Amino acid sequence: MMAMVMMLFCIPLIGVEARQVVVERRNLLANGLGKTPPMGWNSWNHFFCNINEKIIRDTADALVSSGLAKLGYRYVNIDDCWAEHDRDSMGYLVSRRSTFPSGIKALADYVHSRGLKLGIYSDAGYQTCSGTMPGSLGHEQKDAETFASWGIDYLKYDNCNNEDLKPMKRYPEMTRALMSTGRPIFLSICEWGDMHPALWADRLGNSWRTTMDIQDTWESMVSRADENEVYAEHARPGGWNDPDMLEVGNGGMSNDEYIVHFSLWAASKAPLLIGCDVRNMTNETLTILGNDEVIAVNQDPLGVQAKKVRMEGDHEVWAGPLSGFRTVVVLLNRSPEFRPITAEWDDIGIPMNTVVEVRDLWEHSTLEKRFVNRLGVNVRPHACKMFLLTPRPLSQ
Ligand code: GLA
Repeated sequence: MMAMVMMLFCIPLIGVEARQVVVERRNLLANGLGKTPPMGWNSWNHFFCNINEKIIRDTADALVSSGLAKLGYRYVNIDDCWAEHDRDSMGYLVSRRSTFPSGIKALADYVHSRGLKLGIYSDAGYQTCSGTMPGSLGHEQKDAETFASWGIDYLKYDNCNNEDLKPMKRYPEMTRALMSTGRPIFLSICEWGDMHPALWADRLGNSWRTTMDIQDTWESMVSRADENEVYAEHARPGGWNDPDMLEVGNGGMSNDEYIVHFSLWAASKAPLLIGCDVRNMTNETLTILGNDEVIAVNQDPLGVQAKKVRMEGDHEVWAGPLSGFRTVVVLLNRSPEFRPITAEWDDIGIPMNTVVEVRDLWEHSTLEKRFVNRLGVNVRPHACKMFLLTPRPLSQ
């Protein structure tokens, strides 16, 4: 009898597990990471090569003290320029003595002690993009083992100085090397969208850059969002399109423009990697990066990237499904003037006649009125509205 009961309980469980294995086996990178887009900070967009271990430690502290860590920003990612120009006599990477004298392992220990994770940077070429340190091409196993032994949790793997070797001859080596260490390390493939990585990188990494580097301007930001949108169908839990890191807080855009930046990245299920100096943020910056309702859209378990569903000249509607039959809608005004923008249920994938409750994610308020078939508002120049739509019975 007991055995019967056990069997009844076990059979369905084994079934679920087996299915999961089958699904994951199709993905070479079954490291279990990136079930939702990664969140954290990266040194490049603000500091470029001017980094040192104190900046990294203080950034970890600031993520915690500002409350951003609690909201999900857990990865503290060191970008280019952290290593000596040459490997040591045994062929190992060496952290730069003048700027990282305590070494990366000590930094990882510190960052871990703050409840955060440490990311590092290398390149699928002979040198990194700055030209100041070696790349990992031909040294994948050694470098992966080094990163794992230091306690690294995330690797951004760039694309410079590759002597025109095709990505498929360079990136899989690092994937295999990381897997062989046994340590789950998030792999961010930074191939700039050159050879359409959305079409092949899902088997190799947890995210892939779909664009060239972002700059801290409106034009650069919206064009990165556009280029990334083309590949929306390829994003899914475990592997995400990456339109590059956030510029919010770096000073080149207006507050409304930064709100557009953060809204589009969140709805696009992009990695939310802060690129400003979090030790010295304004309240406006913290309010944008710390919008928990917008973050929840990005981290929604359904993991479906929003798409541009209607364009009318200089304004447009982006929308995507969320868990619980909800829908996120971004009404984007690219023009220098006010524009009325309307989301039609037909365009955003809600069945006609569905009554919805509308939550304004930047005002943090639920609109009193219920909406059926369309939702239209006036949007400021270079700005957006971001709404969460939830189906409701008509009478409530
Ligand atoms: C490339 C990457 C950037 C940054 C720099 C560092 O340009 O795309 O994100 O990592 O290299 O040199």
